[in-house]
Amino acid sequence: MAKRQAAASSSLLLIISLAILIPPLADATVPAVFILGDSTADVGTNNHLPDSRARADFPYNGIDFPKSRATGRFSNGFNSADFLAKLMGFRRSPPPFLSLLKLSSGLQKRIFKGVNLASGGSGLLDITGQTMKVVPLSEQIRQFATIYNNFTAVMGPAATENMLSKSVFCISVGSNDIFGYFLTKSSIPKEQFIATLINAYEIYIKNLFNLGARKFGIISIPPIGCCPSQRVFNATGGCLEDMNNFARAFHSALNTLLSNLSSELQGMKYSLGNAYEMTINIIENPLPFKFKDVETACCGTGRLNAEGPCNSTANLCMNRQDHLFWDLYHPTQAASKLAALTLYQGGPKFVSPINFAQLAADN
Ligand SMILES: *[C@@H]1O[C@H](CO)[C@@H](O)[C@H](O)[C@H]1NC(C)=O
Ligand SMILES: *[C@@H]1O[C@H](CO)[C@@H](O)[C@H](O)[C@H]1NC(C)=O
Ligand SMILES: *[C@@H]1O[C@H](CO)[C@@H](O)[C@H](O)[C@H]1NC(C)=O
Ligand SMILES: *[C@@H]1O[C@H](CO)[C@@H](O)[C@H](O)[C@H]1NC(C)=O
Repeated sequence: MAKRQAAASSSLLLIISLAILIPPLADATVPAVFILGDSTADVGTNNHLPDSRARADFPYNGIDFPKSRATGRFSNGFNSADFLAKLMGFRRSPPPFLSLLKLSSGLQKRIFKGVNLASGGSGLLDITGQTMKVVPLSEQIRQFATIYNNFTAVMGPAATENMLSKSVFCISVGSNDIFGYFLTKSSIPKEQFIATLINAYEIYIKNLFNLGARKFGIISIPPIGCCPSQRVFNATGGCLEDMNNFARAFHSALNTLLSNLSSELQGMKYSLGNAYEMTINIIENPLPFKFKDVETACCGTGRLNAEGPCNSTANLCMNRQDHLFWDLYHPTQAASKLAALTLYQGGPKFVSPINFAQLAADN
């Protein structure tokens, strides 16, 4: 009885925390959405890189995608980029830039609704994911520059500027840089490493701004110390607190950077999603969100099902919608959907100074 009451009152809390509810519009609220970042947003970029070792183009990935197709998404189904695009009026995430390059019709037509440049395994630093052959954020921005040139060639500079200024640029990146820091047992002090990441982020945002981007939907780093991949290093199966401290420090520094940049860059608007708060909130209190397992991977092998990758010979959980984690690193479709909804409609505890719906609507 007491337990049920507790659950009921925390769902109420959730409703209150999603206080500013803006009904999603049926039609696209923005002309286009451009997506950059890592595996949390990749919809198949790495499938087009023959040498890439960061891939998800095999089962059980995609088991809950239409036709159970393994698209390269690091998920059992859709990811947060898909759900965010959907909330902004599109069918799902725009296709990977590299897939459009291969079409005989060239880049034409489809790029006007946006492009997804995100690459699993990538980071803010070029060295992150280098051995896995991924597309770092710097290269994703160079790819966007070619798209920009294409737009101006087709529409002219004024129409391009108008279109891009109303479009939303979603960026989800940073986790892999911190994984890399711990993996290489770096001796760089924490504050200095975070400052290096934030300096890189500043350059990238300015690059995009100079290419016409005005609306930035930025997603910071989740509590990556709580990924099943990291919990296996803790005898109790708990989160690695050191790594979580980095994630919190990154959010706080990014918050300062964006606030600074928005007063420096005329016309820049942003929304910063606090992936740390969003996720830790679920981990500490899963039931109101309908999760029963927030510690183990749904698909994998070994302890916590997190000592091996998700592939066709891995163990697969039965109740995928009850799990926070799909594989040792990535959220399930259910978790990604909840994350996108919170980014889109959530209150200032989770997304600030405005949410993604307000960012999309702001012209
Ligand atoms: C746009 O890019 C594609 C692919 O690079 C190219 O084939 C096409 O000619 C470009 N269009 C314009 C107008 O620049
Ligand atoms: C391991 O998890 C426990 C909680 O179960 C936590 O108190 C402890 O700090 C964690 N260890 C590390 C090294 O983060
Ligand atoms: C933000 O601006 C303040 C005041 O100008 C400055 O001290 C600080 O270094 C800036 N921080 C970042 C991350 O840009
Ligand atoms: C799946 O990954 C494991 C490593 O955990 C490997 O031993 C196995 O061969 C892989 N299965 C397939 C089908 O690639």
